Amino acid sequence: MSQKASKKANKNRNAAEKRSVVHPHVFRYHGPRLRGIDFHPGSTSFEGRFGRMFRTLPPAEFDVDDLKKLARAMVAEREREPTPETKVDDEENQGISAGYTYLGQFIDHDLTFDPASSLQKENDPDALVDFRTPRFDLDCIYGRGPDDQPYLYQDDGVHLLLGRRLTGNPHDSRTRDLPRNTPRRGGRARALIGDPRNDENVIVSQLQSTMLRFHNRVVDFLPTQRGSRHLLRDPGKLFAEAQRQARWHYQWIVLNDFLPTIAGQEIVNRLLPHLERGTNIFEDEPQLKFFRWKVEPFMPIEFSAAAYRFGHSMVRPIYRVNTTRRDRIEIFSTNENNSLTGFRALPDNLAVDWSLFFDLRADAPPSGPERVQKSYKIDTSLVSPLGRLPKVIGHDVPSLAERNLIRGLRMGLPSGQSVARYMHIPVIPDEKLQVGKATEDDNADNPRLTSISPRFKDNAPLWYYILAEAQQAFDGNNETTIRLGPVGGRIVAEVFVGLLVGDHHSFLHHPSWQPIEDFMSGGKFAIEDLIKKTMKAR
Ligand code: HEM
Repeated sequence: MSQKASKKANKNRNAAEKRSVVHPHVFRYHGPRLRGIDFHPGSTSFEGRFGRMFRTLPPAEFDVDDLKKLARAMVAEREREPTPETKVDDEENQGISAGYTYLGQFIDHDLTFDPASSLQKENDPDALVDFRTPRFDLDCIYGRGPDDQPYLYQDDGVHLLLGRRLTGNPHDSRTRDLPRNTPRRGGRARALIGDPRNDENVIVSQLQSTMLRFHNRVVDFLPTQRGSRHLLRDPGKLFAEAQRQARWHYQWIVLNDFLPTIAGQEIVNRLLPHLERGTNIFEDEPQLKFFRWKVEPFMPIEFSAAAYRFGHSMVRPIYRVNTTRRDRIEIFSTNENNSLTGFRALPDNLAVDWSLFFDLRADAPPSGPERVQKSYKIDTSLVSPLGRLPKVIGHDVPSLAERNLIRGLRMGLPSGQSVARYMHIPVIPDEKLQVGKATEDDNADNPRLTSISPRFKDNAPLWYYILAEAQQAFDGNNETTIRLGPVGGRIVAEVFVGLLVGDHHSFLHHPSWQPIEDFMSGGKFAIEDLIKKTMKAR
């Protein structure tokens, strides 16, 4: 960068920093000493690991019984018997492949994971100071690094540890389970990974394994490049460079693939005008209106307790995991062989074939056992198994819908309508707020929210509202793709962009960086390209 360009960049950066400054207030909290997401910041200007995006909006008030009733209405009845593969399942979101659901869950875990040591947590149970800010940094993969958590790494301290080989995926014979401990007799083989939540179900667990292998692939690739052979003589440097590259490739996918898929390209371009202009964030600054921070970006509870939980409505009840196993597997079943529940060594033949989850093959048939499965629609309906989570996940409250709604109340979230008004987005009238599936069969007859309780009049829980808002895009045609609407899309996009912009180590701060050419296909780099590259990893 020339001196002049660098001066201009600094000026822009300073101006952006000034604009994002908010006034500090004294923080007072006298409630129980909880931490993380359970911690409810009382001050409207609290900034710590968690904070608020809409600080001036009052918390919405709800009757707990109303929320329980709404939760029951949002969980579908037991799904009809699996439809023949040739018939389109009307809950499928035709424009969003099923893999994006779990990529979304993986991203959630990356953002909300805090690898700080438990000792440190004991010293600061409210996570007020000294805690890492949320970043797209793959700490769910790297943990605290090879020095601090050597058991996540191979002996060279550079490659990540993998588990045993799994069979069943005809496209990738090297698929691996996660590395696991050897349990005592009858115990469960727990995954040895940066974030235990990434073993919660078979699909996210295999995505974690794919990311481990992607890092290893980058480690093997880098020294083969001209001028980089010296990295072989310096394992520390090789690890650091591979980690940086793996993170940036992942961030690239988050911004250029995942976000446009779930929120639409338009909102991404609006927030990041440099994308269309072919410039960078220093020349064309990001346009964040609602996500502001003082020192470092935080995790807004409107995002974690409401908006980003949209993914729960995308979960299917049953998946085909690979074509070698002829059956389709339920997300939760008491028969462990026919269940996608995690926290256990995977059955040998349960390798996930990603070509059934993402657009990996140009010749994938539109129907039949080899088709790409679609996610379910973003609507106000959750599949029936999510209404009765297994004990290991749901603990005392087995309905995920109820958990989300009660969590929103406890967190003091504002109503969907007040957020929409604040954002100057037209409020959806009560008569258009319905509860149930966005399908040709159900949509017209879905009950209104206010018929569940009149107290929901102009007062909808934020998580519900964001789903109902997405559902407004349903035009009576089962083929129409449903993405997040203006409120949900804006919150999610602002948080993603804000976290990337606020992280001075992200690829956005290195405008000349591009994904490794050898990893791209047709000039782009998307999740399927990352997966294809890992297939060559040892
Ligand atoms: C089978 C799939 C999934 C299951 C069983 C599941 C289950 C859960 C459970 C039990 C919670 C804690 C709820 C509470 O007590 O507040 C939770 C939180 C959350 N989930 Fe999911 N989830 C799934 C998929 C997803 C997906 C696909 C997304 C987003 C794309 C997502 C986003 C979130 C977020 C943002 C939170 C709160 C933040 C956190 O603490 O991690 N989940 N999920």
